[in-house]
Amino acid sequence: MSKTIQFFDTTLRDGEQTIGVNFDIDHKVAIAKQLEAWGVDVIEAGFPVASDGDFEAVEAVSKAVTKAQVTGLARAKKKDIDACVKATAAAKNKQIHVFIATSPIHREDKLHMTKEQVIKSIHDSVSYAHKFFEIVEFSPEDATRTEPDFLVESIQTAIDAGATVINIPDTVGYTNPEEFEQLFKNLRENIPMFDQITFSVHCHDDLGMAVANSLQAIKSGATRIEGTINGIGERAGNAALEEVAAAMYVRKDYYQADNHIDMAETMKTSQMISHFSEMPVPHNKAVVGANAFAHESGIHQDGMLKNPQTYEILTPTVVGANKTTLPLGKLSGSHAVMTKLQNMGYQVDKDDMKRIFPRFKHVADHSSIVSEEQLRNIMNQIKEIA
Ligand code: KIV
Ligand code: ZN
Repeated sequence: MSKTIQFFDTTLRDGEQTIGVNFDIDHKVAIAKQLEAWGVDVIEAGFPVASDGDFEAVEAVSKAVTKAQVTGLARAKKKDIDACVKATAAAKNKQIHVFIATSPIHREDKLHMTKEQVIKSIHDSVSYAHKFFEIVEFSPEDATRTEPDFLVESIQTAIDAGATVINIPDTVGYTNPEEFEQLFKNLRENIPMFDQITFSVHCHDDLGMAVANSLQAIKSGATRIEGTINGIGERAGNAALEEVAAAMYVRKDYYQADNHIDMAETMKTSQMISHFSEMPVPHNKAVVGANAFAHESGIHQDGMLKNPQTYEILTPTVVGANKTTLPLGKLSGSHAVMTKLQNMGYQVDKDDMKRIFPRFKHVADHSSIVSEEQLRNIMNQIKEIA
């Protein structure tokens, strides 16, 4: 593998921007430790200037984490940077994340700043942050709606001022994989130090493309992916990092890149976030949903029993999930029902199934899933008739 992709987790910062989610400090520390066990390279623990709670959380995570870099978020302002310096003082490994919006709509209607003022602010804030941090990450917020020339100018200014990581945020989930590739092509052609800089992406999921855009960025030259566990975050959320990790695992042939993620810790990490955020994981959610490794239709169950690779590209144990399930319902076939009965201890063969299966179908037509108890009842009825 020629390149390694870093995972930057912002569950504790952007993830906490989810409506109704508020992690307390103990939860934040527990999450940070689990993220470290999962193998993330950077943990964005909060926005220290935003509140005393956020400051204390970044401080506590900085003390608790030993391997991952800890970062705080800062606007392009001295007081934000000072707060990050203090909050991450105890961190073994650290960086800072400075941002300012660069798109016309954000410059004109939100910041009321000219292009020149934005450029000056990037220069001043990044050079100030560079006095305290070896690793300075700069984000031009709303990069994907920024004029391509001005994006290059903003990024070049940040690099000249000492930024070592450039993050490209798709702040409003506006771009698509093809356009994102073009954006990177423009940067590669116009930023002379492109290969010496760590390029990162931070994609939101407003149009459901956050993970696809992040994966495209890997093909286009990014070596860091930002996101959250279970894809929680502002509005429709961020790129779900467990999905990025799973895609890289399953399609190693295509992405040709490694990472430090311990896939076996995936389910535990997802369940912890779900529990502390009080946000249940949808059953059909990729990789970590309850149905991600369940097969109901007869054709699929038959295929799975013959060779699991017919319908499963990722083995559940790889992500620390329980084994594949074949829940029995009205679409299940005789093969799956016979296998289930055999697993329950019944000695049944194909001939027996000619009598059992019609009864099973009758019961299945009136229930969503046929339970073991219902199967035992069916077998008792068959015994009585025989
Ligand atoms: O979505 C965004 O643009 C952000 C920045 C602060 C990186 O969260
Ligand atoms: Zn964001």
